[in-house]
Amino acid sequence: MKASAPAKIIIFGEHAVVYKRHAVVTAINLRCYAEAKKSDEIKIYSPLGVTGLDFKVHPYVSYAIKRFSEVKPINGVEIRIESDIPIASGLGSSSAVTVAVLKALEGEFEAGLSNDEIFELARKVELDVQGIGSGTDPFIATFGGTWLIPDRKRINIKNIRILVVNTGKSSITAEMVRKVAELKRRHPDAVDKIFDAIDAIALESVEPLEKGDIKTLSELFFLNQCMLKAIGVSNSEIDDLIERLTEIGVSAKITGAGGGGCVIGIGDDKSIERAMKTFGGFLVEAGADGVRIED
Ligand code: PMV
Repeated sequence: MKASAPAKIIIFGEHAVVYKRHAVVTAINLRCYAEAKKSDEIKIYSPLGVTGLDFKVHPYVSYAIKRFSEVKPINGVEIRIESDIPIASGLGSSSAVTVAVLKALEGEFEAGLSNDEIFELARKVELDVQGIGSGTDPFIATFGGTWLIPDRKRINIKNIRILVVNTGKSSITAEMVRKVAELKRRHPDAVDKIFDAIDAIALESVEPLEKGDIKTLSELFFLNQCMLKAIGVSNSEIDDLIERLTEIGVSAKITGAGGGGCVIGIGDDKSIERAMKTFGGFLVEAGADGVRIED
């Protein structure tokens, strides 16, 4: 049985969402595909290599198999992964692979898991591997669409072109989340106030997202990026890229954990086209389908 799950972008609110503040997240038009086939042994085939149950090379797939086996014991399975989603780029590839594998296992072994239960297992896998995380990525990989988190309120994005540009440098979520936790430990009051500011930005963004108000959203992108810089998840490469995008009229911010990975940009059509010519990247189709079985 084959299943797929989408990548995502966090439009506003990364990091602060780990501390229960609001975030706006959408599933996008890149997917991870997982095929599960009954077998006598466990074998995982992916662009990362061919292994058995291997928590170093294939941590997310291996924990997904382990967690699924706790619900329904299995003798063996062959898992094959193909993915459009660049790894360690802030686009949620880890959760997409986890959720796609769980759904493929469900399709093949019929444990009777609903998508809510698949989300719960994927959330456990996120914590098994990273030890920390908001649960936003497994949620969006499971359910798709565009959401205000943690309220689970759906948002209808209108006529907005969001550009994604990859810095080409890895973004390691667990590392960045720990870095922010350490800053918060040392400066709890100051960092809490930055999270409150990010919370206000995410909440304020809902109306302009639904109205297609690019001017207000550009200001909010700028503000959110200043806050991300303040908590230490930007760096000189990201700052330079954002500066150059700003010069051609595209307001940009980190999406995901930062330290590398992708930035997202917003602006009028002309500026976005100019930015694509200069920096490459791709335009997001927001609100993609959540996990699904593929024929
Ligand atoms: O970089 P990604 O795609 O793993 O997203 C991380 C988002 C954070 O808010 C930094 C962490 C989280 O678990 O929400």
